[in-house]
Amino acid sequence: MNKVKGLISKDLLGLRELPESDLNLILKTATSMKEIFMRPIRRVPPLLAKNIITLFYEPSTRTRTSFHMAAKMLSANTTNIAVSSSSVKKGETLIDTVKNLEAMGVDAIIIRHKMAGAARLVAENIKGSVINAGDGFNEHPTQALLDIFTMQEKKGEIEGKKVVIVGDILHSRVARSNIWGLKKLGAKVTVVGPPTLMPKDIEKLGVHVSYNIDKEIKDADFVNVLRIQLERQEGGLFPSLEEYHKLFGITSARLKKAKKDIIVMHPGPLNRGVEISSEVADGPYNVILDQVTNGVAVRMAILFLLLGGKFRR
Ligand code: CP
Repeated sequence: MNKVKGLISKDLLGLRELPESDLNLILKTATSMKEIFMRPIRRVPPLLAKNIITLFYEPSTRTRTSFHMAAKMLSANTTNIAVSSSSVKKGETLIDTVKNLEAMGVDAIIIRHKMAGAARLVAENIKGSVINAGDGFNEHPTQALLDIFTMQEKKGEIEGKKVVIVGDILHSRVARSNIWGLKKLGAKVTVVGPPTLMPKDIEKLGVHVSYNIDKEIKDADFVNVLRIQLERQEGGLFPSLEEYHKLFGITSARLKKAKKDIIVMHPGPLNRGVEISSEVADGPYNVILDQVTNGVAVRMAILFLLLGGKFRR
C-alpha cells in the first residue's frame, strides 16, 4: 500500500472541526479498507509495531471491538485498558493515566468518556494521536463517519438527500456528529423527537426541527433512529416507553407512508419495541449490520490516515 496524505490534525476529535477535505479523504480511504476487510486473509502491514490503546470509561461493544479489529488488520499492537480494574479506581486522574500510557510508548489512544471535551483534554496533553470514541453529549465522530459511509454506499452522493434523525437528540453525540458531517456534505437534515428531548437552538446548526415523524418520514431518503438513552436521563422527559414508541417509534406501519427505497439506520445498541420495532430492526429496509461492518473499514481508514500517512502540519 502506498503512503497517502494524512489528516490535517494528529487527532480525530469531532466532525465539527474536521475539514470537509479530510472528511472526504476518510470516506474515500474507507472504500479501499473495506476491500482489504473483505479479503480471505485480512492483514496488511502499514501500522506494523504501532501501539494503540483503547481507554473506555463507558461501556461499548461495537466501537471498541471494531477499533481492535481495524488495528489488527493493519498489523498494529492493541491493548485495552479495563477502566474498572485499572488505577483509575484508586483515584488516578485522566491526565496522569494518559501520560503514563504515553511513557510506555503509545502511538494512539482511543478514548470514550462521559465528560464532553475529555478527548480534547487528552489530545492537548500527549504527543500521540487521540481518537474520540464518544465524549458525553458532545460528539461520536467515528459513528457518524460510518453512518455517512453507509449512506454513500447505499445511495451515492449525499448532497440534497433528506436525512431524518429521530429520537433523543438532546443526549445524542451521534446526532451532533451526524449533523456536522452531513451538513458539510450538503444533506438536508431534519431532527425529530419530543420537545423535551430537543436541544434549545438546535436549528442554529442548519437543521429543520420537527415533532412529527409521520410527516417527516414521507419524503425521507434515510431515517437514522437514535437509541433512547435511559441511562442519561434524569427521568420524566416523556410519559412512558410505550407512549414514546407510539409517537416516535419506527414501525412497519410508519414505513408504509415512506418512500419505497427509504433506508433505516441505527447506531446500536437497539431498544427493540421502544425506538424501533423488531420487525423493522430485522426487516428489509434496515442496514444496521452493514453499518457495523462499515465501522471496521472506516476505523481502519482513520487509523491508517492518522498513523500511517504523513501529517500536513
Ligand atoms: N454505536 C456505538 O457506539 O455502539 P457501542 O456503544 O457498542 O460502541
